[in-house]
Amino acid sequence: EKDGHDWFMRKEIHEQPRAVADSLLGRRTPAGQLQLDEVRISDEDLRDIDKVIIIACGTSFYAGMVAKYAIEHWCRIPCEVELASEFRYRDPILTRETLVVAISQSGETADTLQAIRHARTQRSKVLAICNTNGSTIPRESDAVIYTHAGPEIGVASTKGFLTQLVACYLLALYLAQVKGTRYGDEINQVMDQLEAMPGHIQTVLDREEEVYALAKSYVGARSVLFLGRHAGYPVALEGALKLKELAYLHAEGFAAGELKHGPIALVEQDLPIWCVVPPRGRDQLHEKMISGIQEVRARGARTICLAEDGDTAIEPYADVLIRLPKVPTLLQPLVAAVPLQLFACELATLMGHDVDQPRNLAKSVTVE
Ligand code: F6R
Repeated sequence: EKDGHDWFMRKEIHEQPRAVADSLLGRRTPAGQLQLDEVRISDEDLRDIDKVIIIACGTSFYAGMVAKYAIEHWCRIPCEVELASEFRYRDPILTRETLVVAISQSGETADTLQAIRHARTQRSKVLAICNTNGSTIPRESDAVIYTHAGPEIGVASTKGFLTQLVACYLLALYLAQVKGTRYGDEINQVMDQLEAMPGHIQTVLDREEEVYALAKSYVGARSVLFLGRHAGYPVALEGALKLKELAYLHAEGFAAGELKHGPIALVEQDLPIWCVVPPRGRDQLHEKMISGIQEVRARGARTICLAEDGDTAIEPYADVLIRLPKVPTLLQPLVAAVPLQLFACELATLMGHDVDQPRNLAKSVTVE
């Protein structure tokens, strides 16, 4: 049942190329139009949407953070991301023109469900991104995009996360198509890039031994930090959450630009810091990340850098370098999250923890 793996989690990490491919299947018409069959909101209503609010918890919230970058960039619609547990208690501004997107792997998370109910009383349209057919959240939503990860058994979300990212990209591209903010050929170009992702994820998995070797040297670590920028920031948060959940270790993710505003005081000799290095591009993200890395190294941190193939500029600043395939910045979370999942799984295993059933956690959280 675990396909020769020791844990469901490890099996599910390895299923990600397939899960991502399945979640992309059948989304394009022969004429090259994006189609999302399960979105039962008319194109007319979608054209009127003037704000998107994403609500979710935990790992699903981090997928929502990536979605915000994609939606604002491709669709030019303002987008907020909010923890479902905070949403209805702050009296959010919701109208008929607000699209609320609820992201939930299980479809049963009570915080998210209550947030949806609140949004619907305000007449906003609710679209669910969900992995579980017939669960409560899609049943109570106006529309749903199902991810096709297959059942996720390990308590820590892995293939659930990657397929949520795919659904978020699809939604963003679909909104761009309906709103006309992007041309068909641009949308098709991104779809081609998405369809290449299963192969890239497999490449990362083929290099898993490097990550396992690294995990060995961090048994006994007391704290691990994660730095990212742009779409790499939610990846940093996700890497930290995986370590907390599985290795019961103090771990924190930061936006690299925020370091100097406080967290850099945490850095001491030999503190391990994972750095999600953005692809080199016209946007200066890469240069900015390198200067952040220089700052922490100057204070004794040991940097473990996730950087794209061919990025030689990072080499002097990485104590350990884990290579990622070359992909666009917005899509990088699909490959960058994987070594962090492998690291947390392996470190927890070496520490003797139950990876599939971490202490104090349940797979679906059905109480608020
Ligand atoms: C982390 C994890 C949790 C869930 C969160 C939301 O590995 O699994 O943080 O992501 O409880 O769950 P869903 O997506 O089922 O609503």
